[in-house]
Amino acid sequence: MATHQEIAQVSDEELLRRMIDSHDRRFDQPFWDFFRERVDPHLPEAPAMVDVGCGPGLFLRDLSLRYPAARLTGVDVTPAMLDYAEKLDYAGETPTYYLHDIAEEPLPMQDGSVNMLAMVAVLHVLNDPLAMCREVCRVLSDDGVFVLQDWVRTPLPSYLERMTSEVPAEQLEAARARLFRLFPSHNKYTVEDWLWLLEQGGLEPMDCRKLTSPQFRAFVCRSR
Ligand SMILES: C[S@@+](CC[C@H](N)C(=O)[O-])C[C@H]1O[C@@H](n2cnc3c(N)ncnc32)[C@H](O)[C@@H]1O
Repeated sequence: MATHQEIAQVSDEELLRRMIDSHDRRFDQPFWDFFRERVDPHLPEAPAMVDVGCGPGLFLRDLSLRYPAARLTGVDVTPAMLDYAEKLDYAGETPTYYLHDIAEEPLPMQDGSVNMLAMVAVLHVLNDPLAMCREVCRVLSDDGVFVLQDWVRTPLPSYLERMTSEVPAEQLEAARARLFRLFPSHNKYTVEDWLWLLEQGGLEPMDCRKLTSPQFRAFVCRSR
């Protein structure tokens, strides 16, 4: 399996910086409105929440502010991401972080122990997304929910246009060269492909929403 870093040809530190810089675009107000509407009703007082492929931990930090009683866990394969995440300030308890390759090992959680499991911009890189969905089903509690936010296929011209909208003219050529490498990975699955994958993996999609970016979809699922 090619990693995000190999696909983008960037170092761990560059990917870390990109995830920090782009965090507020993935987790903006429309995302939190969606979360409150579709996820919050399924959560108990002190929910167990897991972010798989948590990157720099900023989503867990945001969850800690909104759910200070939550038990939070982050899983990621890149040490630089977890080093950063462990040094953040959290409103509640500091999350438990696992350096862990989800493509190689089962999730480090017990069956039925998780109220909310999120994967944001991660599942599309896995060679076997169905195996991951089955693992998500294993760890979710009876009323637990899976929150997936990931890339959906868009036409090349609109992908390039949106991804270079803030790039200065003199850097456009280099930016496009990088985006041609990323395009096959970011544009792998249509919305219908995602819905099919989730169902095949044992999950029942309850909502599928275009939020701010036309290149992403947010899904909320429960296990069947
Ligand atoms: C594009 S970043 C997204 C990070 C975070 N979810 C966010 O939205 O800010 C993808 C993350 O998934 C992690 N990742 C990729 N493959 C993984 C694997 N096999 N096991 C665990 N983490 C993985 C990477 O290290 C990286 O931190």
